[in-house]
Amino acid sequence: MGERALNFKAPRVPLRKLQTLGLPRLLLARLVPYKEGLDSRGKAGFGASHFRPFATRYVPLHNPPAGHRAPGKTTRKEAFHPMARSSSKAAPKAPAKPVYVLNGPNLNLLGQREPEIYGSTTLADIEKQVKAKAKSLGLGVVCRQSNHEGDLVDWIQEAREKAAAVILNAAAYSHTSIAIHDALATLDIPVIEVHISNVYKRESFRHHSTVSSVATGVICGLGTIGYELALEAVKSKL
Ligand code: DQA
Repeated sequence: MGERALNFKAPRVPLRKLQTLGLPRLLLARLVPYKEGLDSRGKAGFGASHFRPFATRYVPLHNPPAGHRAPGKTTRKEAFHPMARSSSKAAPKAPAKPVYVLNGPNLNLLGQREPEIYGSTTLADIEKQVKAKAKSLGLGVVCRQSNHEGDLVDWIQEAREKAAAVILNAAAYSHTSIAIHDALATLDIPVIEVHISNVYKRESFRHHSTVSSVATGVICGLGTIGYELALEAVKSKL
């Protein structure tokens, strides 16, 4: 650090004058260690002939060059301005909870199953699209599929603690499952119900959903893009 940066209008005071104030030379050397012609590490010590007492206020005495700093030690600047701490020392940001994307029975057969209704996109394709979309929105996702009602109930219960939101295509269980309805009713996070096909254009037994009354919203009949739209909806709700 250069002399100009250190002294900032502080008056030069001869050593003799400071000593007449009764301060011992050792203390002066510790508290006011700046003199004309400092060495490169700001050391002064007993050889000093002139001091700039007020300059110490502007000099980071405890802020030696990075290579000389004891690990974990806080610099003077950091003590007074916590925001000045280097990012490598900052506590890692807690990861946000992921969005659970849950698919019910027979959706593992997407691509093979009734392609005239559900199209040719496979579940693996959907999950890939969902992960890419989530990344673009800054969301994490957990994708799961099961043919078993109890698995869906367990995952919905798990979501109470671990998820930021649930996107659920309960497939045929949407029309029958009171257990899924009851599990969803315990959540206080966004729930988006998704159906790939337009269930209202199909058989009447698909017109009722036990999920809809406990969902934040429903996306139905728009194909597999419905999952991505559901992520957009979740993003707008978080
Ligand atoms: C579905 C519609 C349901 O009626 C059906 O049982 C499914 C899929 C859909 O995504 O369109 O399996 O949920």
